[in-house]
Amino acid sequence: MTSKLRRLTLTAMAAAALAAPFAAQLSAHADQPLKVGFLVKMPEQAWFINEQKAATALGQKDGFSVVNIGTPDGEKVLAAIDNLGAQGAKGFVICAPDVRLGPAIQARAKRYNMKFVTVDDQLVDSTGKPLANVPHLGMSAFKIGNQVGQAITDEMKRRGWKPEEVGALRITNYELPTAKLRTDGATQSLLAGGFKKENIYDAPQKTTDDEGGFNASSPVLAQHPNIKKWVIFALNEESVLGGVRATEQLHIPAVDVIGVGINGAGEAFAEFQKKEPTGFYGTIAVSSTNHGKESTENLIEWIKDGKQPPADTQTTGKLMVRSNWQDVRKELGI
Ligand code: GLA
Repeated sequence: MTSKLRRLTLTAMAAAALAAPFAAQLSAHADQPLKVGFLVKMPEQAWFINEQKAATALGQKDGFSVVNIGTPDGEKVLAAIDNLGAQGAKGFVICAPDVRLGPAIQARAKRYNMKFVTVDDQLVDSTGKPLANVPHLGMSAFKIGNQVGQAITDEMKRRGWKPEEVGALRITNYELPTAKLRTDGATQSLLAGGFKKENIYDAPQKTTDDEGGFNASSPVLAQHPNIKKWVIFALNEESVLGGVRATEQLHIPAVDVIGVGINGAGEAFAEFQKKEPTGFYGTIAVSSTNHGKESTENLIEWIKDGKQPPADTQTTGKLMVRSNWQDVRKELGI
């Protein structure tokens, strides 16, 4: 063998040795069915359980697998993306614990060449604008907020309440744009219906669940013992239920409370099934099943056919109360 030839052979061997692990990595995932992740900020919340279930069911029907992961903080989100990357997943749907994680999530997904779409909470960039090129599917937040305000207004009228004797507990989360839009929409409709602006009391919540709603509401209610009738609204029914529990703790009778939530998931169903009505009057139900299914469908089509999903899909809701909850549930396929 000439020395030139030997050099060539060695180079080829070295190249092959270098390439081998990559090839092995590729082929290790090549024969696997398509795999995607579904990451949610609160895996214990009925809304998110329904979404993940719907995504999994679609996968079983259409022949891809869904890895459901709970990601309650930023570190868990990044670890989940690493985990998905190592498993050869091609993308993920996410409802992030903090929308400002947008750029970090985008950078991490790029590292693994993964596509991703957002559901429910739209990610923002460093200036607070929706993150470009990330398709989103979520509620038409302001309009659904309007429906909350309208439902409260109608029920106040039905009960014959005078606006001057009613306080509103507005449980807020202004760090989450969809939450602000929802409570702003509710406020707009309440005021349009004659509610007194000065009777609206803010209760900022730390977490968007029952506990967050309860902890935000208790001190505000305690500060206003003179107010005997309350209406309660928030970004979701879990938070409103927290507020209702706070009124119960202060022995405010259920007939003097009108709480209206948003979601229409497990917790509202449980409340409607209680023997006696509570202060939780109703909720604007949106199909969590469709949110989970459609966001996953969008992602899969994008991965398979390169068809980029619409930039912003907005879903609608329907008032669900004790008397119609089963029908609405069926109608929305929840
Ligand atoms: C937010 C809320 C959830 C649910 C979704 C629906 O993420 O925290 O409870 O309302 O929006 O889009």
